[in-house]
Order: sequence, then C-alpha cells, then structure tokens
Amino acid sequence: MIHTPLCDLLGVQYPILNASMSETATGRLAAAVSNAGGFGMIGGTSSGGAEWVREQIRIARSLTDRPFGVGFISCFPEIDELVEVALDERVHAINHSFADPARFVPAAHDAGIKVFAMVQTVALAEQAVASGVDVVIAQGGEAGGHGGHLGTFALLPSVVDAVGARTPVIAAGGIGDGRGLAAALLLGAQGVWMGTRFVASEEWGGERFKQQAVADSTADDTTTTTVYDEIWAEHFPPEISHRVLKNDLVERMRGKESEIAAKRNEFQAEQAVATKGENRRIAGISAGLAAGLVDSTLPAGEIVRQIIAEAEMVLRNRPAELLG
Ligand SMILES: Cc1cc2nc3c(=O)[nH]c(=O)nc-3n(C[C@H](O)[C@H](O)[C@H](O)COP(=O)(O)O)c2cc1C
Repeated sequence: MIHTPLCDLLGVQYPILNASMSETATGRLAAAVSNAGGFGMIGGTSSGGAEWVREQIRIARSLTDRPFGVGFISCFPEIDELVEVALDERVHAINHSFADPARFVPAAHDAGIKVFAMVQTVALAEQAVASGVDVVIAQGGEAGGHGGHLGTFALLPSVVDAVGARTPVIAAGGIGDGRGLAAALLLGAQGVWMGTRFVASEEWGGERFKQQAVADSTADDTTTTTVYDEIWAEHFPPEISHRVLKNDLVERMRGKESEIAAKRNEFQAEQAVATKGENRRIAGISAGLAAGLVDSTLPAGEIVRQIIAEAEMVLRNRPAELLG
C-alpha cells in the first residue's frame, strides 16, 4: 500500500489531496476526498466571504469525521477575516497560496492547526520553511488556475533537495493519474495535490459545461493569460499567471489586456452571459495540462481509488520491466 510520512502527519490513508480551488472545492468535495482516504481541501473565496467558508466547513463536517483543511488565495485583501473562520472552526490544516505565509503560522499552530504553503520556486519554498510551515506544496507551471512558470519535473526534486529533509513536500501541477502520483513519489514528493483532475469530479462546485470542456481537452489546449484577472480585478503577484483553456476571448484580448479595466462592467456582463449560455469560447475555464489526462467526470472518491490503484501497479510493474 502506498504510504508516506505525510499520511501519518495528516492522519490519512493515502497521500492525495484535492487543491483548494476557490469556491468550487466545496465542503462536499473535501468530505468525499477525505472519506476515500485522502485529505480533502475546501477552497476559501473572497466573493463568497467568511460565511461561505464557515458553511462549507460545516457541510464537510456533517459528511465526514475525517481530517480536512481549507486553503486561501492569501494575497487577497479579505484574507484575515477568512483565516479567522478557519481558526475558529479548528480545521486540521490551512493552506496559503500566493503570499508569504509567515504571519499566519503562529496563530494556526497555537490552535493546533497545520500550515501548508504552496510555492512556485525554490526560494519561496525556503522562505516558507523558515517561517515554520508544516508542509510545502511545490507547484509547477503545468498547473491549472494561478501558478508560476517552472515545470514540475525539475522544480519538485529541486524543492525536495532544498527543504525536503526538514519539511514534507507535496507535488502539484500536471498530475492527473496514477502515473503522475508514482512519478511524483519517485521524485521525492510525499504526496500530490490535484486541481484539474478534481474539476471533473461529481462533487466539484462549478458549472457542468466547464467539467465537460476539461474532459474534452488535450494537454495542448491550455494557455496562460491575465485576461480574467483584469476582468475580475483580481490582483496576484506579478510573477503569477493564470492557466485556462484556450478560447476566443483570450486570443482576441492577447496584448490588449490593459484595455479591459476601462470597460470592466461590459466584460463582466459578457462573462455572465457566456457562463449562463455555457459558451466556452468566452467563459474563463481554469485548467492545467492534466486536462489531457481527464476524459470523464467521476465521483471524487473513485478518482482517489483509481489513482492509488494505478500508482501501485506502476510502482510494482515498471521497475521490474526496466531493471529486468
Ligand atoms: C479550477 C481551478 C481553480 C483553482 N483555484 C485555486 C485557488 O483558489 N487557490 C489556490 O491556491 N490554487 C488554486 N488552483 C491551483 C491549485 O491549487 C493547484 O496548484 C493546481 O490545480 C495543480 O495543478 P493541476 O491543475 O495540474 O492539478 C486552482 C486550480 C484550478 C484547476
């Protein structure tokens, strides 16, 4: 059975976590992942606010007695209010993405809560570990949603070399099946954190047409853009970009992103119409290269079980094939 020290640290059977995708990694998704033996994460959101986070934590708790956590886009202005809810509700772990996690660590540890930090470079991993986080998530640029530019295959072992002796490292970005889990473990990760694969899970909280678009896509069908950050006036650090499925709007506005601010209301209205009309040529669909590994929407628990079974098979059979 696949087991790493991270499983003991988090109190879970399998080293699989769903990514804390804001507003769509619901309490229902987190509970399904935890119930299947993984570690479920809720994606805290600024638009839903603190009450949404509290509600989702309570939903998760009503569906599982296993550990789960909440993650945040910690560069957003509402972060303190959202973290307060997670502390108050005593979740098992809090993830911080896109901001220095240092100032959040003491209060979480005082409350007995583990702190994760998602990082995109070796320097950020070292900074996070120096501030006392319990787990580092090394996120490669293949990732869906917001992320950096360094590829998982080289970033991950570099982060493991830099901080892995002190802090467990989880791999993220481009992992969508058992082969990815097996490879990440061989590169020194103690677990995997997956977003795109769980977009196409029955418990994901977003629109069905977005799940279908991910299932229909290949690894060639994503691109990075700032178009949607401009439309929603969301401010991420400058080195962070947004990986989405390619579409007409992204192509039309490429190089003209700075024009969006002046007509933000019109672009937002266009998004509302496109989402209602299930128009994937205009609506923003966050997804990474792992979209090429996804061809159907499945229950989240089934995804966890399939990935574990496939990784176990790969780890048993490939070495024998390769080494004779
Ligand atoms: C639909 C979607 C939404 C995401 N939203 C967030 C978010 O709110 N906060 C965050 O830290 N990461 C977010 N991410 C990035 C994930 O945390 C994770 O790093 C990424 O999904 C891993 O790569 P993968 O998509 O190849 O599995 C999102 C990813 C996707 C696909």
